[in-house]
Amino acid sequence: MANPHFGKIADVWKHAALAEVLEREPPGWYAETHAGSGAYAIVRDQEREFGILRFLAVAPRFAALARSRYRAVAASYVHGERGLCPGSALLAMTVLGDASSYLLCDLDRESITDLRRWSRELGLHSCEVAETEGMAAVAARLDGEARGPGLVHIDPFDPDARGPAGYSALELAARVADSGTGLVYWYGYDEPGEQAWAHKRLVALTRTPLWYGDMLVTGAGKVPGNLGIATTPGTGFGVILANLQAGTARACAALGNALSDAYADAILPDGSPGNFVFTSSTNGEGGAGSG
Ligand SMILES: C[S@@+](CC[C@H](N)C(=O)[O-])C[C@H]1O[C@@H](n2cnc3c(N)ncnc32)[C@H](O)[C@@H]1O
Repeated sequence: MANPHFGKIADVWKHAALAEVLEREPPGWYAETHAGSGAYAIVRDQEREFGILRFLAVAPRFAALARSRYRAVAASYVHGERGLCPGSALLAMTVLGDASSYLLCDLDRESITDLRRWSRELGLHSCEVAETEGMAAVAARLDGEARGPGLVHIDPFDPDARGPAGYSALELAARVADSGTGLVYWYGYDEPGEQAWAHKRLVALTRTPLWYGDMLVTGAGKVPGNLGIATTPGTGFGVILANLQAGTARACAALGNALSDAYADAILPDGSPGNFVFTSSTNGEGGAGSG
């Protein structure tokens, strides 16, 4: 299994925002560069207890989380007979169903096999699962046969590694933004001073307005975190959106603020007290959207 980070708190924020986007603005086609597996057998370790399992336990008490599509879909898989944690591609397939077409890319055979199995199980007629380098495949789709409004989800391991098409993940994100296609881009960091770093980098690569929602794990002192663990103070992660409606960004901001409230004064898995600081903003629109 090529994704050891499933179900951690960084996934919760990424998937909550992604599901909100898909629910509010269902695209005709959905493409994902780094799709991962469809679903993962849920593991009850400290990171998942703090991540998806705690989220599902506290979400009913916070209106924005309670009514979110992410909560409903995640609960149906986690609490279902098979006890599964859905990945982003299965989330998309479940929210959009057969009304959209799909291009789901990964280099890992096990992930590809699982995605194909889910595509069959959900009865999708237009779901291409490609065992290939995702940035090149999505760039080719943008150059060629992409028709109508679509959404590209880029969830890279390394934002600067260049694929065979010559794009890094950040450069492909700029290309998607320039094309007018909807974009959901995930980033992470492990230094508290790096809040919203990917937004700053991407703003320099495109003139399309970009919204970001950034979550920083805080604790005692400003110490470097560890993104691999995801709940160490100093770790952060965020989502960038492009070519989506202002109301969608506002709904994602409401989710981010609710998530931060839901984890106020949490005890982190290492036993120390922690909080999430959520910030969001849109550039290029008169500074609107800070929150
Ligand atoms: C963090 S996981 C994806 C998680 C998934 N997007 C989610 O949110 O549930 C990253 C995946 O990227 C795949 N991967 C790494 N480099 C890749 C590349 N250049 N092209 C396509 N897939 C890649 C790995 O095999 C792994 O399954």
